[in-house]
Amino acid sequence: MSESKNLWGGRFTGEADQKFTEFNRSFGFDRKLFEVDVRASLAHGEGLLSAGVLTWTESEQIRNGLETILKRAANDACYFDELPAEDVHSFVEARLVQLIGDAGRKLHTGRSRNDQVATDLRLWLRDEIDQISERVRDAQTVLLDLAEAYPSAVLPGYTHLQRAQPILWAHWCLAYFEMLARDGERLMEVRKRVNVMPLGSAALSGTSYNIDREAVARALGFDGVSRNSLDAVSDRDFCIEFIAACSLVMLHLSRIAEDIIIYATTEFGFLELSDRVATGSSLMPQKKNPDSMELVRGKAGRVFGHLSGLLATLKGLPLAYNKDMQEDKEAVFDVAGTVGASLEVTATVLRNVRLREERMREAAARGYMNATELADYLARKGIAFREGHELVGRMVLHAIERGVELQDLALDELQVFSPLIEEDVYLALSLEQTLATKSQIGGTSLERVAEALEAARASLADTKSSAGQ
Ligand code: ARG
Repeated sequence: MSESKNLWGGRFTGEADQKFTEFNRSFGFDRKLFEVDVRASLAHGEGLLSAGVLTWTESEQIRNGLETILKRAANDACYFDELPAEDVHSFVEARLVQLIGDAGRKLHTGRSRNDQVATDLRLWLRDEIDQISERVRDAQTVLLDLAEAYPSAVLPGYTHLQRAQPILWAHWCLAYFEMLARDGERLMEVRKRVNVMPLGSAALSGTSYNIDREAVARALGFDGVSRNSLDAVSDRDFCIEFIAACSLVMLHLSRIAEDIIIYATTEFGFLELSDRVATGSSLMPQKKNPDSMELVRGKAGRVFGHLSGLLATLKGLPLAYNKDMQEDKEAVFDVAGTVGASLEVTATVLRNVRLREERMREAAARGYMNATELADYLARKGIAFREGHELVGRMVLHAIERGVELQDLALDELQVFSPLIEEDVYLALSLEQTLATKSQIGGTSLERVAEALEAARASLADTKSSAGQ
């Protein structure tokens, strides 16, 4: 089939340069908007009928034509490529005219590709946000399952990647649960601003036909209509907000990834990745590499790149629509695909991970992570914390020199540093006690974490039911 004609005939006498035509074309990627473009066209057709622009017969022809186009596209793999259109909007219109003739030429009355593309992108993004949100909730569920699968597992908590204080494994899981919970909330916030309809803004100044925009918006499931036509056709804040919210999802996933990568090393040895999500080496037979997590970590950078890319594209654009904006789509599409896949892979990794509890416990009981407990112990005996801190520092140095842990020092050895230390110090230094004292809200004691888990389950169930899942 030959090239479809341009959408602008009259004003032009010369032919467009071949390379420019290619350069100008977005159909290679914006065909992703095909279905929403047809849906929006169906609603616009109804709007034109109510406005008295189309006769009943014409609107019937348009409706049938658009539905046929949807079916053909679903059944014919070559449907898009047979007609090399400039973009998805001109493609749908060309196919419609091909099918129904003159009535098809009336569909573009009262609209422009400027309000059309903004509407399509919002419809598409709304569905994507719902799917991504569902995947965020899936990952949260997996984290809770993983916490419950190992209720008494402990590991060293780190600051500066140096052993700091022991924590429950479930506490680690819940930390990431919280991050993803905020991500879910942010996506819902973005969704509110996405779900506003620009259609009816036409090219920039509004439509001159008596179209009931509110009715069209309702038909498309929008919460409302845009209030200013200039803004509506040139606003891409919603794309940037979406990418920003996704950037935080990726940032959080990259931190999960990094922890898992470190914990899976021989040096840490806290867990083993399933064969399902690891790879071997073509050269070194012993290797098991965490490619899945490394890719998630790497893809975070790619998503952040789209964020600064699109900010730079939109900066300083004069009102209203400019073709620069065509650059928004590949960024948004790539981010949605990348974040969706990264969430899925991360959930699979976590679902299949095997903890080496013994090794984690051993690590959690060593490395002077109970030093703070000893300072607290001295504080309870009446020594100012700052002074106790200094004393314990010296005891740690002494223990390091002897190559033992604090709890391995004999009572008289400890009493050299402070005569206030008594036999009960060994209980205070135990791993169990170290955890048990962190009993305020948000702390890592067994009871608090059990409560937090229950609360997390309940809030996740709430979010799922309000999302209709
Ligand atoms: N393909 C265009 C885009 O993605 C559609 C809008 C074209 N509008 C125009 N005035 N040329 O932005």
